[in-house]
Amino acid sequence: MIDVAAVRLDTPGVENVAHFNNAGASLMSRPVYETVSVILEEEYLCGGYETARAFEVDIQGVYTSLATLVGGARDEIAVVENATVAWQHAFYGMRFQSGDQVLTTTTEYGANFVAYLQIGERKGISIDVVPDTATGEVDIAALASMITDRTKLISINHMPTSNGLVNPAADVGRVARDAGVPFLLDACQTLGQMPIDVEEIGCDMLTGTSRKFLRGPRGVGFLWVRDSMLDQLDPIVLDHHAAEWTGRLTYALRPGARRFENWETMIAAKVGFGVAVDYALDLGLDSIWDRDSYLAAELRQGLGAIDGVTLHDRGTVKGAIVMFDVDGVEPVRVRDDLHEQGINVSYSTRGSSVIDFDRRGVESLVRASVHYFNTEDEIARLVRTVDILAR
Ligand SMILES: Cc1ncc(COP(=O)(O)O)c(C=O)c1O
Repeated sequence: MIDVAAVRLDTPGVENVAHFNNAGASLMSRPVYETVSVILEEEYLCGGYETARAFEVDIQGVYTSLATLVGGARDEIAVVENATVAWQHAFYGMRFQSGDQVLTTTTEYGANFVAYLQIGERKGISIDVVPDTATGEVDIAALASMITDRTKLISINHMPTSNGLVNPAADVGRVARDAGVPFLLDACQTLGQMPIDVEEIGCDMLTGTSRKFLRGPRGVGFLWVRDSMLDQLDPIVLDHHAAEWTGRLTYALRPGARRFENWETMIAAKVGFGVAVDYALDLGLDSIWDRDSYLAAELRQGLGAIDGVTLHDRGTVKGAIVMFDVDGVEPVRVRDDLHEQGINVSYSTRGSSVIDFDRRGVESLVRASVHYFNTEDEIARLVRTVDILAR
């Protein structure tokens, strides 16, 4: 069980706002903020490289923390700028050939889909969208039936950016393993919200970000690559951190996933990310998932009871992202009006997930995303305020 009073004490931001934008960027906890500030101050007072040396043990610890979070090994982790960059290293690193096929979902994230389209055009590969079940998740039977000897990659999200559903990642993993097809999982919205184990899921590559449900600083993310997958990827870019320059005409790829990193990085954000991961691990991902699912269900119930509010989440298992709209009020206005009253939500537009938005026939939706430090009172306040807006 989460000690809500204690986590709120650790989260000074809750004094200023009722924060329901955890799928955008959550509120950092005090230990994360203090770590980032201490390192920045040390850089300010003593020099950046010297500070990095002083924090070397902490920097190395970030890999251990992330490996623990996903159930992988530390050599399988690369810490990069964000989840998109992590995902790009995995996807663009695949050695696609003309005629290859990539299988994905209807709810795929915009950044990923644009990359499919670019490589589809450039290399002549087909991007095929697996249909949904009646409840909105990727249809496992359809996925299995679409695999051919041309299928080079299965690439799905665990939870879409603007839909509260949880995709059945472990079932996808079973299909991928049976067929011997690599499986890339975008876990950006589920990491920090629920337990994730790459062995149970059976994925080969997984990507995530710091600032969302993990509550770390902005500007940092990571890629996990299964050891046996590493040499199937051709790194899209290299520097002398990703590869050793061994001679006038030679270089050697760095062992492990750190070949997907580059040399310069924001040490304060990286170490702060590690502290955020440890914070989530200390609370326990099972407890976080219990509370996040409970709070999201409360919020759906409250919003669903308002005349003029439509809920848009699908899924048998629903998580912390709650999508809705209010009749006659633009989602951006809902966001702005709530913000004026000290309530943070965000809104998502069609470009973030074109197929999913077109299916719903909407251009944008409000996204309210809960996290364990939110309270029932905050939810009641959000519901009341939306109710007034809906009149
Ligand atoms: C499902 C999903 N994947 C990937 C990303 C990209 O994460 P980042 O902004 O850290 O690159 C997002 C961000 O909203 C997301 O929702």
